[in-house]
Amino acid sequence: MSESSDQHYVIVGAGQAGAEVASELRKRGFEGQISLIGDESVAPYRRPPLSKAYFSGDAEADSLLVLKPPQLEKNGIDLLSGVTVDAIDRATHTVTLSDGRSLQYDKLALTTGGRARPLPCPGNDLDGVFLLRSLADVDAIRAHCNAETRMAIVGGGFIGLEVAASARKAGMAVTVVETLDRVLARVTAPVVSAFFERIHREAGVDLRTGVRVEAIEGTTKVEGVRLGDGSVIPADVVVVGIGLIPNVELAEAAGLEVDNGIVVDACAQTSDPDIVAAGDCANHPNRFAGERIRLESVQNAMEQARVAAGTMLGAESPYDAVPWFWSDQYDCKLQMAGLSGGYDDIVLRGDPAAEKRFSAFYLRDGQLIAADSVGRPQDFMFAKKLVTLNIAPDRAKLADPEVPLKAFLPA
Ligand code: NAI
Repeated sequence: MSESSDQHYVIVGAGQAGAEVASELRKRGFEGQISLIGDESVAPYRRPPLSKAYFSGDAEADSLLVLKPPQLEKNGIDLLSGVTVDAIDRATHTVTLSDGRSLQYDKLALTTGGRARPLPCPGNDLDGVFLLRSLADVDAIRAHCNAETRMAIVGGGFIGLEVAASARKAGMAVTVVETLDRVLARVTAPVVSAFFERIHREAGVDLRTGVRVEAIEGTTKVEGVRLGDGSVIPADVVVVGIGLIPNVELAEAAGLEVDNGIVVDACAQTSDPDIVAAGDCANHPNRFAGERIRLESVQNAMEQARVAAGTMLGAESPYDAVPWFWSDQYDCKLQMAGLSGGYDDIVLRGDPAAEKRFSAFYLRDGQLIAADSVGRPQDFMFAKKLVTLNIAPDRAKLADPEVPLKAFLPA
């Protein structure tokens, strides 16, 4: 038995990042006790299908689980589900749980993720108004919906647009209201936003941008969404997808450094040497962003979690993975490599106004920093590599669909 066998590592937050920390610790040979604590009543699961296949009924809850009970048992991971960690006492290395228990830790990982931002307006608590973050949220939405449902979606981000596509597929009448003048403004360029606006309108979505929600109307149940101009969109169900709030309160109360997320270094170390953090909740230095950033993605949750596990074991190696994202809407798969914020030039391959197959390449000072691809998986695959290499591609060749991106790789 190694000296790690009498250690207790505690992971707070049983989402994909937390599950990955636990699995990675075992992969790297940690022999001590692992406790994985989550406030949801289920084993860790993948959230991406929630707004897509799970919403549509094409995937069962069981298929979403990343650590099923037999794997938890095989890997010796103690899952404490349906419990919240209420406090961390860093001096005594203790966490206090909502069920009254307290646990002693040698190392602690915070993978607390985030929660959906509630709509700040009157009527947001009416029956039929939903946020979408968990399996339970989707179960509740689906229980309220049928093909006759009139669904109003607040927020034209990832959640809003993916749910719109799923709801249209189920035959519902769908309206999307977005406060900004275009959808997906947080993550993409106007030309890509315009593409997604087109495909949603073609699919029959009533998409309204540049509008403000004043109130949700109804007495006990939702009846409609009142906009800033006084008009009302009739609705039986409202789904709100207006962003994520990182869960940092626990870390903050414990005196850890927090600034739009739990502040960590390149190795996922917090301001306490015995505590790491990873995933949606962690603000980390990121060379692709050129600054500190908090990333809300599965890629980040998984890869940063592995870095955090290494750090817990004293094998620090910096996090340096290229960020990537994807979104499925109707028959279109959007794949994004790199971070496009701060671009000063954009090159198109294909015509987003006419086709459903194109790539948008983002350049800064002539250098490729990101690419958004729809229906061009090869572009995405090579863009991930090219973005890490800081290449400065020829614009004409980049725009030419006949030139494979592979050609830009150094010989
Ligand atoms: P988001 O940040 O992607 O989009 C929120 C949208 O709501 C923005 O377009 C914003 O301008 C708009 N908005 C904000 N306040 C509003 C208001 N009062 N009225 C109308 N519109 C308003 O956040 P979203 O879609 O809620 O997703 C939450 C989290 O889940 C994010 O971390 C997201 O990355 C993640 N997610 C990722 C997916 C993917 O990568 N495919 C799919 C679904 C969720």
